[in-house]
Amino acid sequence: MKAFVVDAYGKEGLRAAELPEPTVGRRDVLVRVRAASINPLDTMTRNGEFKRLIKRKPPFVLGHDVAGVVAAVGAGVRDFTVGDEVYARPRDLRIGTFAEYIAIDQDDVAPKPSSLTFQEAAAVPLVALAAWQILVDRADVHPGQKVLVHAGAGGLGSTVIQLAKHLGATVATTSSTPTTALVTDLGAEVVVDYTEQDFSRDLSDYDLVVDSLGGQNLEKSLTVVRPGGLVIGVAGPPDAGFAEQLGAPSFFRIAMTLLSRKVRKRAQALGVRYEFFFMQASGSQLRQLAALYDSGVLRPVIDKTFSFAQTKQAMEYVEQGGTRAGKVVLTMD
Ligand SMILES: NC(=O)c1ccc[n+]([C@@H]2O[C@H](COP(=O)([O-])OP(=O)(O)OC[C@H]3O[C@@H](n4cnc5c(N)ncnc54)[C@H](OP(=O)(O)O)[C@@H]3O)[C@@H](O)[C@H]2O)c1
Repeated sequence: MKAFVVDAYGKEGLRAAELPEPTVGRRDVLVRVRAASINPLDTMTRNGEFKRLIKRKPPFVLGHDVAGVVAAVGAGVRDFTVGDEVYARPRDLRIGTFAEYIAIDQDDVAPKPSSLTFQEAAAVPLVALAAWQILVDRADVHPGQKVLVHAGAGGLGSTVIQLAKHLGATVATTSSTPTTALVTDLGAEVVVDYTEQDFSRDLSDYDLVVDSLGGQNLEKSLTVVRPGGLVIGVAGPPDAGFAEQLGAPSFFRIAMTLLSRKVRKRAQALGVRYEFFFMQASGSQLRQLAALYDSGVLRPVIDKTFSFAQTKQAMEYVEQGGTRAGKVVLTMD
C-alpha cells in the first residue's frame, strides 16, 4: 500500500513509501482510508517533539485523523463489519492515517456521521474529541457560564465555539479580521480581533479559557478568568497530570512540574487555576459526537482539500500558515 512515512525525525523526514498492508489484530478494524486530515500534532510528531514521551521509532506512518470503510475485522471485533463507514483518531502509539489502509483498535473507532462526506468526517475526530474532553470531561461547562476560546477560526477553536454554545455557555473568541464573520456564524457572541485589540483589556470574569497559543497569550488569559476559574492550555506548558496520563516515569513528572511552575504560580497568585490538556482516543465519545454532527449542532470547517499524493505539499501549506480557517483534508478520491 502507499503511505507517507517518517523516516527520521525532522522537517525533511517525511517520504512517500510502499508498505505491506497492516496486520489485523484480534481487536482491530482494518480501515480503507477514504480521507485523512492534517493537525499541528502531525508536524510536532514528524519533528520528534514527543519522542521521549511517546516512544515510537521511525520509520512509522504519520497521520492522526481518518474516515474510511471497514475492509476487514479481527476475530474479537463485535460492533463493526466489512463495508461499514467509520471515522477515528487512533491512539497515540498506533497512528498512521496517511496511508491506504490502517488497522485501528475497535475502541477507537465509531460509525461515521451519516450526514458528512468522508472528507468532512476526516476533519472531525481529533479536534472534536479535544473539544468534548475539555468542555465536558475536564471543565464541566454548563448553561450560563462564560467561555473564551482563542484562535476561533482554527480546527480546534471552531469546534470549541460550537460545542460550548451547545452546552449553553456564552462564547467569546479571538480571530483576525477576515475570519470574524465565520466565528460569529459558528456561535461566538463576543469576538476580539487580535490584530487590533488586546483581549485582556476587554474581557473579564470568564469561567473557562481554552488557550492554544501559549506564552504571553496564556499569561494574559489567566487575568480574564473569575476567581477560582480555569485556564486550560493545549499548547503547553505541560504539567504533572500530563506525565501521569502518559504513564511516564517519575523523572518526567518532576520535569513537567518544573516546566509549568511559572504559569501555575502566576495562576495561584491570581486565585485561578491552570491545567495542561492533551486529548485521548475514544470511539465511544466519537459516537456521541456523530449524533451532534448529524443533528446539525456541530459542523466541520474545511479550509482546503489536497489529494493523497500531495500530502507533503499539504503539510507545507499548513506549516507555512496557509490555512485561513478550519482543517486541511487529504482525499484518496
Ligand atoms: N493538546 C491537545 O489535545 C490539542 C488538541 C488540538 C489542538 N491542539 C493545539 O492547539 C493549537 C491549535 O490547533 P488547531 O488545530 O486549531 O490549529 P489551526 O487550525 O492550525 O489554527 C490556526 C488558526 O489560529 C489562528 N490564530 C493564529 N494566531 C492567532 C492569534 N495570535 N490569536 C488568535 N488566533 C490566532 C488563525 O486564525 P485567523 O485566521 O483568525 O488568524 C488560524 O486559523 C495547536 O498548537 C495544536 O497543537 C492541542
